[in-house]
Amino acid sequence: MADRKCSGPCACKEPDQNRRRGIVTGAIALALSPFSPALAQANGRMAKPKPGDVLAFADGERKGQPVKVEDIIVGDHPRFAYPMDAATNTIRDGSRINLVLLVRLKPEDLSEKTRPRAADGVVAYSAVCTHYGCQITVTHKDARAVVCNCHGSTFDAGNNGEIVVGPATRRLASLPLKAVEGALVVAAGFSGQLGPPQQ
Ligand code: FES
Repeated sequence: MADRKCSGPCACKEPDQNRRRGIVTGAIALALSPFSPALAQANGRMAKPKPGDVLAFADGERKGQPVKVEDIIVGDHPRFAYPMDAATNTIRDGSRINLVLLVRLKPEDLSEKTRPRAADGVVAYSAVCTHYGCQITVTHKDARAVVCNCHGSTFDAGNNGEIVVGPATRRLASLPLKAVEGALVVAAGFSGQLGPPQQ
């Protein structure tokens, strides 16, 4: 018996179309599934810092590379970093609120509260000003405080991020650190509220 050939749209094409539709639907379902690698990576980028995360440069020539204790110099302006999941190398830069500033202080400039959160003198604080949310950019000339240039709020990096000069009304949250084989590693989550007060 001769094969029948279809010359236009007909029901005999439906199995193929249904199969393609099934593949597309399956791919979308996989992408949205809680087990999908893409979603897991997106969640990892948005997640808050976790103990064991490595700090990675947020900008500059070494963007994305781990920050070492020796990279942070006493008296320098802050360097900026995001936490990075050490297992997957996912940098948690999906939310600006995870941006931290790093400064290094002399031992005598660390208060009792701040000393246990420092790694060889390096301290990390939220880089998002608690006034209106500008990025804190510079170190005060006394080298112990950091300053937001938007309106001049100044925070004591040696003492728990407390306010030295307003208009900010809330201290900076610190991110406790430890040094592991010379690298800066997150020891605990942020201590304190992040960013400006919610309106
Ligand atoms: S936003 Fe930092 S002082 Fe105003």
